[in-house]
Amino acid sequence: MSVYLIALILILSAWYLTTRKRPKNLPPGPKGLPLVGSVLTMRKFEYLHDGLEQLRREYGDVFSLRLGCRLFVVLNGYEAIREAFIGKSEFFSDRPGMLSMWQAVTNNGKGIVGSSGATWKKSRKFAQGVLRQFGITTRKANLEHRIQEESRYLVEEFDKKKDKPFEPEPLITGAVANIICSLVFGQRYAYDDAEITKFLGLVDGVVHVSLKAAAVDVIPIVRHVSAPYKELVSYMTQIFNFCKGKIDEHRQSFDPDDIRDFIDAYLKEVESAKETDAEQPLTDADMEAAIKDFFFAGIETTAIALTWSLIYMITRPEIQARIHDDIDRVIGRSRQPRLSDEEELPYITATMMEILRIATISPTAAPHCVSADTELRGYHIPKETIVLPHLRSVLYDPKIWPEPEKFEPERFLNEDGTIKKFDEHVPFSVGNRICLGEHLAKMEFFLFFTSLMQQFSFRIPDNYPAPDMKPLFGVGLKPKSYYIHAERR
Ligand code: HEM
Repeated sequence: MSVYLIALILILSAWYLTTRKRPKNLPPGPKGLPLVGSVLTMRKFEYLHDGLEQLRREYGDVFSLRLGCRLFVVLNGYEAIREAFIGKSEFFSDRPGMLSMWQAVTNNGKGIVGSSGATWKKSRKFAQGVLRQFGITTRKANLEHRIQEESRYLVEEFDKKKDKPFEPEPLITGAVANIICSLVFGQRYAYDDAEITKFLGLVDGVVHVSLKAAAVDVIPIVRHVSAPYKELVSYMTQIFNFCKGKIDEHRQSFDPDDIRDFIDAYLKEVESAKETDAEQPLTDADMEAAIKDFFFAGIETTAIALTWSLIYMITRPEIQARIHDDIDRVIGRSRQPRLSDEEELPYITATMMEILRIATISPTAAPHCVSADTELRGYHIPKETIVLPHLRSVLYDPKIWPEPEKFEPERFLNEDGTIKKFDEHVPFSVGNRICLGEHLAKMEFFLFFTSLMQQFSFRIPDNYPAPDMKPLFGVGLKPKSYYIHAERR
């Protein structure tokens, strides 16, 4: 078929899809242009969340917009998100499974992050059970000890810099990746190990190419000609092959009485499902997709939080000094921090909560999808509408956080110094789809951050610029690369 014919089919299909009659009583929103909808309007903004904030000012807390041929509804403010994700969770908990990119990334709708309905329920329930088991009950695989051990490696790596300026982000990512590797594969890697560097490079490649390949999700037919989409599929094939290899290795040495990690736990579940003739058994394909989810959802997010934390320490030395004092008083400098110390270190908890608020790592969470026609605030929301929870609109709501652009850990402290909790603190989202790794992320954040702060004083290196506080827009809002000076205390 000639290129012209393909182009004509593309244009006519997109025209048809985008000029169909707008369903009645949708939430208000911009009409958009044929073919592209509001894509051009949104492209004017450096950050998606700025565009969403502007539309919110025009159309209110619940608005709709069309991007290509997909209808989106955006929820702003805590109340609207809560009403949908908690009040009507039976309608708002699916993922947009029909999209081509999503299919490629999710092993055809499997795993946790990208699945829906019964597949999602069984995968999430199983993964939750394993996390609980490894975090709390299995002493051998106790995650706290593993994170403490990895903190020692991280401190060693910082030490090797011998007071010279360096970029902390690659080391932090190596440490965080090792926690996921330990949990899933039962092993850690040297920070420059070739095998894991290649694998993490593929994960990173997907993250970068996803934004370019996203066109196939708003105009699906584009997938036949999209180079970024083809690149994405190639990365995903290699990622799934890597996971298959790890599963095969585990099968060779599998012992049902010695569950070493997530893959072993999964193998045991797959075997016992065969014996019990379970109706919805977990399969190898579910396992590959779930492993991939841990790597995609559990590394960059946590590494971003830690990378921001050091930026705030070097730009706010008075906060750093207070944290040093607290650590000296409660833990001292010779023994390692442990999770039980956190209760006596509320200022550190408040600082971490403020970092998660101000950094808003995942400003629109992951897209949800409506599983059946429903209504919200009197508006009709048709089946398969993609729903974006605009978490940043909550985390920067000036009614809850006065002067939200300011970094102020004190927001999270009561007058008596105890922690002040807010329902509106939603960096991990809310409802059934709330981040599965919230507890693990907080454990890592506390232990890595406190271990680094216990051992080092941080500052902007001489003759280096202060870090740029404007984030890079990718899948998460991450800091631009920066240099730091770490001095042993
Ligand atoms: C600071 C670190 C982290 C942040 C800010 C974060 C944030 C989020 C957000 C906003 C979502 C989407 C929720 C929604 O769709 O409404 C999510 C989902 C998810 N996160 Fe995290 N996350 C972090 C760390 C982790 C870690 C360490 C893991 C590893 C286990 C993890 C695993 C997941 C999974 C599996 C999902 C999908 C849940 C589902 O669809 O049911 N996350 N996370």
